Amino acid sequence: METIIKKIDRNNIDQESIEQAGSILKQGGLVAFPTETVYGLGANALDEEAAKKTYAAKGRPSDNPLIVHIARLEDLKEIVTEIPEIVQDIADHFWPGPLTMIFHKNDKVPLGTTGGLDTVAVRMPDDEIARKLILAGGGCISAPSANTSGRPSPTTAQHVADDLSGKIEMILDGGSVDIGVESTILDLTVNPPMILRPGAITKEMLEEVAGEISVDETLISENSTKAPKAPGMKYRHYAPKADLIIVEGEPDESIKAIKQIAYEQVRLGYKVGIIATNESIDQYTTGMIKSIGSRENEKTVARNLYKVLREFDEEEVSYIYSEAFPEAGIGTAVMNRLGKAAGHHVLQASDITRLQKYRRIVFVSNSDNCRAPIAAALLRRQPLLQEYQILSRGMIVLFPEPLNPRAEELLKAHDIVLERFETSALDEKILGEDTLVLTMQESQKQKILSEYPDAGDVYTLGEYVGNMQEIASVYGQTEEQYEEMYKLIQENVVKLAERLNKEAKNKCQTYT
Ligand code: TXA
Ligand code: MG
Repeated sequence: METIIKKIDRNNIDQESIEQAGSILKQGGLVAFPTETVYGLGANALDEEAAKKTYAAKGRPSDNPLIVHIARLEDLKEIVTEIPEIVQDIADHFWPGPLTMIFHKNDKVPLGTTGGLDTVAVRMPDDEIARKLILAGGGCISAPSANTSGRPSPTTAQHVADDLSGKIEMILDGGSVDIGVESTILDLTVNPPMILRPGAITKEMLEEVAGEISVDETLISENSTKAPKAPGMKYRHYAPKADLIIVEGEPDESIKAIKQIAYEQVRLGYKVGIIATNESIDQYTTGMIKSIGSRENEKTVARNLYKVLREFDEEEVSYIYSEAFPEAGIGTAVMNRLGKAAGHHVLQASDITRLQKYRRIVFVSNSDNCRAPIAAALLRRQPLLQEYQILSRGMIVLFPEPLNPRAEELLKAHDIVLERFETSALDEKILGEDTLVLTMQESQKQKILSEYPDAGDVYTLGEYVGNMQEIASVYGQTEEQYEEMYKLIQENVVKLAERLNKEAKNKCQTYT
């Protein structure tokens, strides 16, 4: 079947397209449409055959019930046996909006729509296109998220087309959705009402209006052996194709941990994706890095979540590592969906970071224009099992200068060119417990130790690799002496790489 895709301008909704879509629904066909949460796959909720088509198009197990979407409160009475008193207040506050409520259904609603249950989930969406379509389609429209079962929910019409093109009659393209994660589901057939799926309407917001609200325990405890009360929550839903792993911890710790894992995975030949934030994106160096938005704004994170997961599917990465996000407001829903997408595979950042001792290696010479930059250049060419920021610094550098021309020539003779190199002075900011400082001579080491008592690990390069010979300056000396100095540095650096790798080796694991 050829799927019709119609662009709809939200500021000027074309009634003719809505009528066309409505008549497809009335004839038992399927129309995908935008809602404020995610795109839905609409069908006539009161038509058993239409429900069957919905399950077939999504490839969804038919015991997973659909949500019935209405646009007028009076339509609720048409499909449920009773409306608890509290519903009026809740609806006044949150309908239309991203809240689904569960009621006892009446006979008008076929069991095909409710997956065999005698309850029915009902939502009144806020999106104007959705509301107009629901009315045009007869008033009660079932709409699961318009994705292939098991994939991340669609937040754009393109996502819908990617999954369902050729399987459904029509897609109304109303642009990107606003919220990005599915509605909160509140079960009103139990007392107190119970949240079965977190969403943009939080427990706190509901409690302000409706008093005590409980939460399905399977949402709280990852290891619960019970089945979740919303049948759909039991599936490994919202899942990208790659293995997704959440790295929990303080933001800085998580970034270090993810960098560490990504470096190793890439070295082992895997394609790795990283879910970063605007705050962290510049700190990552390896892998395919995507920002999900600002850590400060959980709404943006929610809006981008499924899009980012889908983008990684296209890149065919093997692993995706994600930072964890604050659980404030809609953050609870974000972490719920991310957790499900990850199959609850969560690593503690500190368990990872303690497996790497140093993250920065700084070579120090007097003026940073010959020995130290040569050592840094040579270490960068070594196969290292863990990632280090490799720098060179000088004890006395008054202003930035290029490499000493003799050193430049020497490097060139060994096929090494340092692009845009400038000398820099040692600065306290780069010292600390993550940093290994390696000086050329004892004199520089002593000076650092006396000037910076908190410098952390400071050794001469020779001392660190068990080779007691100092690397003296050859400034103004012969070509042979330069060459000898180069060889000595090279020998030391090879030993250094061996030592670093030996220490890393016992600790490396695949982190998956
Ligand atoms: O935001 C949303 O709710 C979106 C948009 C399109 O409105 N729809 C959506 O539908 O997320 P769907 O089918 O992807 O998810 C419906 C969830 C499933 O987890 C399902 O098990 C649960 O609602 N559900 C539906 N009827 C239920 C019922 N009677 N009892 C318990 N859970 C129910
Ligand atoms: Mg869904």
